[in-house]
Amino acid sequence: MLVKIQKNYKELSEKAAEILIKEISKNPSIVICFATGSTPPGMYKKLVLAYKKKKIRFSGITSFNLDEYYKIKRKDKNSYCYYMHKILFDKINIKNKNINFLNGEAKNYKKECENYEKKINDKPIDIQILGVGVNGHIAFNEPGSKFNSKTRLVRLSQETIKANSRFFKNKKSMPKKALTMGISTIKKAKKIILLASGEKKAEAIFHLVKGNLDEKWPLTSLKNHNNLVVIIDKKAASLILKKL
Ligand code: F6R
Repeated sequence: MLVKIQKNYKELSEKAAEILIKEISKNPSIVICFATGSTPPGMYKKLVLAYKKKKIRFSGITSFNLDEYYKIKRKDKNSYCYYMHKILFDKINIKNKNINFLNGEAKNYKKECENYEKKINDKPIDIQILGVGVNGHIAFNEPGSKFNSKTRLVRLSQETIKANSRFFKNKKSMPKKALTMGISTIKKAKKIILLASGEKKAEAIFHLVKGNLDEKWPLTSLKNHNNLVVIIDKKAASLILKKL
């Protein structure tokens, strides 16, 4: 595991974008799995800027996304599909046919999850972007998720509902379930880049860097991945720095 501690959120975003820009330049048909939430937008902004400056093109890349609420309409402003289009996809030249999402409207969620697993097996992910929940979740693999879990329907934890309901105008309308890539699905990626910013994430990062494999902290499942880059700011690193 490579841990890169940056001064603040701005520098964290720059570092993450710098790595992605290099990887995309090296391999224009790269497969990237993106994350949503409040951590990656700084990096997405830098990617859009690099595209505008003609440093990189996205026409050959394939995207996946980690998760989606269930049920939610794609056009709903709180869907992750809407988020990705607004923040990144509508601003770059990625081809629509190369964009893959879990469908939060799917009637048959089991089939939807199976198909997603198949798609990922057919187009293995080169780079996996991850954020982390305050409770250590990755994607929507909440504490207690099995490390060998696959893409599936999950119930969101109270902590996640509390953390994410701030994005919903009507808090009660937030779906309490989600479709998520499993931990084993995520770990199949050739390279994983995990981002964390702020003091709220310090405990989770401490478990990742200093703790043992522990299903109570889903992010610790990444400890034995052979190409994990952890990019965090000083606040998220505060506990590992203190206890070094
Ligand atoms: C988002 C996702 C979540 C977030 C996590 C952190 O696709 O899978 O696991 O990465 O909840 O969210 P923020 O960045 O808002 O703190």
